[in-house]
Amino acid sequence: MRIERVRGTRDFLPEEMRKRRMIEEEMRRIAERWGYEEVKTPTFEHVELFTLKSGEEIIKEMYDFVDKGGRHLALRPELTAPVIRMYVNEMKMEAKPKKFYYFGNCFRYEEPQRARYREFWQFGAEIIGSDKPEAQAEIIALSYYILKALHVKGDLRVGHVGLIREVLGGLSEEDKNRVMRMIDKGEREKAVEYMKRTGAREEIIAKLMQIIDIKGEEALDEVREMDIAENTVKELEETLEILDYYDVSYTLDFSVVRGLDYYTGMVFEIYAGEEMGKRSQICGGGSYRLAALFGGEDIPSTGFAFGFDRLVAVCDVKEDKRMRVVVVPVNRDAKIMKEAIRITCKLREHFPTYIDVMGRSLAAQLSYANSINASFAVIIGEKEIKEGKITLRNFDTGEQEKMGVEECIEKIRGITFRE
Ligand code: HAM
Repeated sequence: MRIERVRGTRDFLPEEMRKRRMIEEEMRRIAERWGYEEVKTPTFEHVELFTLKSGEEIIKEMYDFVDKGGRHLALRPELTAPVIRMYVNEMKMEAKPKKFYYFGNCFRYEEPQRARYREFWQFGAEIIGSDKPEAQAEIIALSYYILKALHVKGDLRVGHVGLIREVLGGLSEEDKNRVMRMIDKGEREKAVEYMKRTGAREEIIAKLMQIIDIKGEEALDEVREMDIAENTVKELEETLEILDYYDVSYTLDFSVVRGLDYYTGMVFEIYAGEEMGKRSQICGGGSYRLAALFGGEDIPSTGFAFGFDRLVAVCDVKEDKRMRVVVVPVNRDAKIMKEAIRITCKLREHFPTYIDVMGRSLAAQLSYANSINASFAVIIGEKEIKEGKITLRNFDTGEQEKMGVEECIEKIRGITFRE
């Protein structure tokens, strides 16, 4: 019987893993420099953590199950709700803001397609304690600087669900969320139909359609002219001004409303590359309030999450040449094996070093070294031990030379650094 991978999941082979690790490390490096600290939460949580506020879409796609103790649990579909739960449970007395970043797998029961997986990874950041323009701008700028460091050109779209919610004024909270989800999916007609059915005034419907069409340079002026929610517009203006100080390029676009229900203010999305002929959303975020829902004070937060897999797909990272050293004992004589292992341990302080684990002959060991594209073989035999030396073979040049182990380390290092 052959057991296959579960639908919507992936295996990552060494080459892919190296690429992912390099990107992850760069993202961590930047988040740390910006003063964010890493946190980790469990892979599964009580299902209510997500059903309380994340929205219909997420609930439909959730991997939920009842465990042996009868608890209704879910594999996390995202990490914002868990991070806020952690904050409320463990840290709510500490000085604010708290600035966290995380990297973890998430699960959504989606139709698997390219770049849409049932297990995928998110790299995200949250500022807990503020949704002020400074916090909003910092979060957007952080995502922007991460992309810059990875040399990815993204299309950054900034919107404001607070403004949209104000336009939708009289509708119930649930109807507002419904309408916004339709807009998020680009289903305008459906949104209009739905609003008509809820008895929304023509004027509100027209205003909504007008605002979601507002994009680009003149957007702010147009919104000002619409004469809605003066304070909200002012706050957005401030956020955009700080974004300019950070030298971030963006497009104001009020059709960005996000697919999750918890956002309250500024929202943003970044697009890069394509998936199935559609622009691929590699990052999403905004300001929200979840803490009160989980038993804390009603404190505001702002954050984002990159879809790590989609980001990896559009990243072009150059990998350094893999350097591998193979230590080759000429036979399995105890004295030779002991010396070979001693030398291997020394080399492992500096380089990825292999030694035979298959009981192979000298010729077979060299042939394996060749097949894994090793750069060097360090050969150890009776003669070498007597002279207190090793024989270093450079596979790239074919040169072979006897020397002490320290000299060997220097030589390998010199050659690898020259490349
Ligand atoms: P989200 O937009 O649902 O937001 O997910 C963030 C990113 O995860 C998306 O932009 C996308 O790149 C990636 N993503 C989502 N579903 C999949 C999938 N099935 N396969 C591959 N990638 C996927 C959130 O999750 C919010 N928690 C973001 C946030 C943080 N808001 C505030 N703080």
